[in-house]
Amino acid sequence: MLKKLILIGCLTHILLEANAQEKILAPTPPMGWMTWNYFGVNINEQIIREMADAINHSGMMKAGYQYIMIDDGWQGGRDNKNNLIPDPQKFPSGIKALADYVHSKGLKLGIYSDAAPLTCAGYTASLHFEGQDAKTFAEWQIDYLKYDYCNAPADSLTAKIRYKTMADALRQSGREIVFGICEWGERQPWRWARNAGGQLWRTTFDVRDNWKSIIAIADMNFMLSHYAGPGHWNDPDMLVVGLYGNKGPSGDLGGTGCTDTEYQSQMSLWSMMAAPLIATNDVRNMNEETKKILLNDEVIAINQDALGKQAELKIKNETIYVLVKPLLQGSYAVAILNRSQILQNTTIDFAALGFAGKIELRDVWTKQQQKINGKWSGSIRPHETKLFTVKLVR
Ligand code: GLA
Repeated sequence: MLKKLILIGCLTHILLEANAQEKILAPTPPMGWMTWNYFGVNINEQIIREMADAINHSGMMKAGYQYIMIDDGWQGGRDNKNNLIPDPQKFPSGIKALADYVHSKGLKLGIYSDAAPLTCAGYTASLHFEGQDAKTFAEWQIDYLKYDYCNAPADSLTAKIRYKTMADALRQSGREIVFGICEWGERQPWRWARNAGGQLWRTTFDVRDNWKSIIAIADMNFMLSHYAGPGHWNDPDMLVVGLYGNKGPSGDLGGTGCTDTEYQSQMSLWSMMAAPLIATNDVRNMNEETKKILLNDEVIAINQDALGKQAELKIKNETIYVLVKPLLQGSYAVAILNRSQILQNTTIDFAALGFAGKIELRDVWTKQQQKINGKWSGSIRPHETKLFTVKLVR
């Protein structure tokens, strides 16, 4: 009997310990920079180093941008032991040396593969080599894997199995690697990707550098607030802020560029939706407006709020959308989006949104504060998003 009790005691201890060690990966939405929309497959180690330097110097790292992600185009096939290797022309020093460099700046390194024999751009991918590739990524000290789904069968069951296989392999690799599922929302990954082991999942098609694309993606992602939380995020794809219609893949896909007001709206909406904030512009050469948008600490704080709630769409009419995001310690953020092409003079009934009595609104873009009782009135430029934090006034 005593032996049995001791055994049960030991087992409980082991289980509790295992639970305590089970850390949430990506407790807040991942922030970083990704190669894709500016460079496409034309990447190399020099570019990544320069980006790490720029993110470090520009204040982006201090603002929270942490991951540098190498997207498609880095691969050079497999060696005679079937180990994945980088293209020796593009990455002559190897990925481990690059990871060491990125880590020495206080940043993390992400990489890309695909759940099929070949990636979207036709490079070597990980199907049937999941365990071996996860080990390679861990040896290289990779911190994040974006796992795409080109060249794979369309059915959901196969997708679930293939993603779970890689997630398990990453978990067994001995390194904490955030797992980003990228099947473009086609099989409703918000319903299964968390169970398959993903910390985030793309919910839509690829973003393009134009307002139509931003708003179409936002419209799909608005509806999924229920599925987001610490360690499991909806990913409506990268920020296009500061791209200005450059000739990268986004440009090839019809990215003609946005106005700064539209870029600022994307930053506001993505922050409200607790979306990963993954910049993709040339951070070595940012103008003041782009910096202002990407580096606004109060906007980032809304995105990174530890409660991890995605905003809910509370008002939806032809021109105006209003989103509400609960924040830690009982405060809130509210966004008011003008979808139309003309200036809107509008009144929002905050009492009807649940903010009864006197409240203080802080516009986190203009840094201006105002007290209101019930209603807010103001004008909103075409495609502008007003972003406020809300405090109750006693
Ligand atoms: C897909 C993804 C993009 C990018 C490319 C790379 O289109 O959705 O984000 O990774 O593949 O080929």
